[in-house]
Amino acid sequence: MMERFANKVVLLTGAASGIGRATAERLALEGATLALVDINADGLDQTVQTCRDSGAEVLSLVGDISSESSVAEIIESTVNEFGRIDVLCNIAGILQFKDFRLTTLDDWNKIIGVNLTGTFLMCRDALPHLLESQGNIVNMSSTASLGGHPWTAPYSASKGGIQAMSLGIAVEFGKMGVRCNCVAPGSILTPIQDAFELPEGADPKLLHRIMPLDKMRGPEQIASAVAYLGSDDAAHVNGTVLKVDGGTLA
Ligand SMILES: NC(=O)c1ccc[n+]([C@@H]2O[C@H](COP(=O)([O-])OP(=O)(O)OC[C@H]3O[C@@H](n4cnc5c(N)ncnc54)[C@H](O)[C@@H]3O)[C@@H](O)[C@H]2O)c1
Repeated sequence: MMERFANKVVLLTGAASGIGRATAERLALEGATLALVDINADGLDQTVQTCRDSGAEVLSLVGDISSESSVAEIIESTVNEFGRIDVLCNIAGILQFKDFRLTTLDDWNKIIGVNLTGTFLMCRDALPHLLESQGNIVNMSSTASLGGHPWTAPYSASKGGIQAMSLGIAVEFGKMGVRCNCVAPGSILTPIQDAFELPEGADPKLLHRIMPLDKMRGPEQIASAVAYLGSDDAAHVNGTVLKVDGGTLA
């Protein structure tokens, strides 16, 4: 395995499960020092253990990215422990499948609050440290914001917001040496998919908008894309959205 992250401190959210876990494990193998964040303490413990087993130095942080004070603590603890942040990977997110007409304001606020506001808070508070380290950000978008996914309106809106915000950060800080990119996964086999249930009366033919052309794949496909964008291999890549979706028709 390449050592692209030797001597790099990576702060990563959503580490307890799925894509966040696979990315943490990949970066540990590539030599990263890790500050791993999740709201789920048990899942986080497991990821921390695997990463330590592959030789990484790991700080475990149970926190809620939708809370301003929790994010401030996450950043402060990381900098106190490691003295710097080189790469911020915002991977935590939540998803719900529902008929648009039944979407409540509470559903909307919850999903926007975690996915979009959480990513905003993490980016804002990490930026002074990334400017110091000349580091970069990798945010998690989705093909849901690119081509129209059914039954996920607040989620799609949150991911579109993340994408627009990321391009803004890329332009605002590119000249100062900080990059910001997004990965837009299509359907990936992780526990987030457990929430899937066809809404009552929904047209199952719309599912083809979500499915890859050949077959479903796992979170390691996204981990490798995040690792690329976060590494110096992508030094000339700023403000891009990398689709990793098995050729979804969306
Ligand atoms: N799996 C897919 O098909 C897919 C497709 C496109 C985008 N994504 C995105 O990839 C990211 C990871 O998804 P996944 O499939 O690994 O899902 P997952 O449910 O397996 O993992 C998400 C993680 O985020 C954590 N989390 C949720 N709310 C949080 C909060 N407020 N603070 C801190 N942590 C919180 C969860 O505890 C969980 O560990 C998400 O942003 C998701 O939207 C996933």
